[in-house]
Amino acid sequence: MYRILEARNLAGNIYEMVVEAPRVAKRALPGQFVIVKLNEEAERIPLTICDYDREKGTITIVFQPVGASTSKYVPLKAGDSFMDFVGPLGQPSDLCTEPLEEVRKKKILFVAGGVGTAPVYPQAKWLHEHGIECDVIIGAKTKDLVILEEEMKKVANTYVTTDDGSYGRSGMVTKCIEDLVAEGHVYDHCVAIGPMIMMKFCCLTTKKLGIHTIVSMNPIMVDGTGMCGACRLIVGDQVKFACVDGPEFDGHLVDFDAAMKRATLYKTEEGRALLAYQEGETHHGGCGQCGGDK
Ligand code: NAD
Ligand code: FES
Repeated sequence: MYRILEARNLAGNIYEMVVEAPRVAKRALPGQFVIVKLNEEAERIPLTICDYDREKGTITIVFQPVGASTSKYVPLKAGDSFMDFVGPLGQPSDLCTEPLEEVRKKKILFVAGGVGTAPVYPQAKWLHEHGIECDVIIGAKTKDLVILEEEMKKVANTYVTTDDGSYGRSGMVTKCIEDLVAEGHVYDHCVAIGPMIMMKFCCLTTKKLGIHTIVSMNPIMVDGTGMCGACRLIVGDQVKFACVDGPEFDGHLVDFDAAMKRATLYKTEEGRALLAYQEGETHHGGCGQCGGDK
């Protein structure tokens, strides 16, 4: 069992938990995720790692209840436990695995949209710990939905923007990117993490501005193990699976429209049958590695 040490509401419908998971904490790197299962009957839920503390042996997760399973996490409190807490899974962020001298040459901008602020935080923190400066845009619909602002300010130059202008700058994150560039900020590497539609429009903006952009395709994952086939996506001319090949990909190569359409189809039994018909049965749902799904 994996004990919950802290549980709190961050804002609106967004919750944070610190979970005792020493073996996961020992190996976790920014960009990776865990699969959480509350009890024997519960669904497996992939959640990005928001923070880790190797000494204390803890992992911090942030979630937004969207279905029956995640809604059951809301009343959990310190002292309760998850039955399974598997990870770290997925590939770590390139920024944390590339040679430091290469990363130091980059002028990095993170774009964190809503709950997507949670997976941005460990990346910015990691860079800060390695003496690398970066800028972060935190975007939220309204003032009450801004999360992790204080934490982010400690590790990065942080710009907050709200869609309704109730706090910080006014407008969506894409406007903030354009404004920062117009104000003289220079970037050559962007990491955009948030809702699919935000990542799509960030990529259109950064393409125009000539900024290489990485996105996290975590939102289309279902079981997170390469077995269900839900997270199949097109990147350039290749078929990839977010949970095993990603979750991070070159955003300028991702076919967002196809990924969003597919994610909607995948939600119904009829849709899954149609996908199986169109794409062919895969050998085990598609691991993304062996080519058996092509
Ligand atoms: P939200 O809808 O409040 O959007 C957050 C910000 O994204 C907005 O404030 C805005 O600045 C920007 N945005 C939204 N639509 C945009 C558009 N069309 N053009 C430009 N910018 C736009 O976000 P939320 O409700 O906190 O997000 C929930 C979603 O985030 C869920 O779907 C979840 O799957 C996803 N999520 C993604 C990741 C990831 O790894 N990519 C991680 C956690 C959550
Ligand atoms: Fe099931 Fe990736 S989430 S195959």
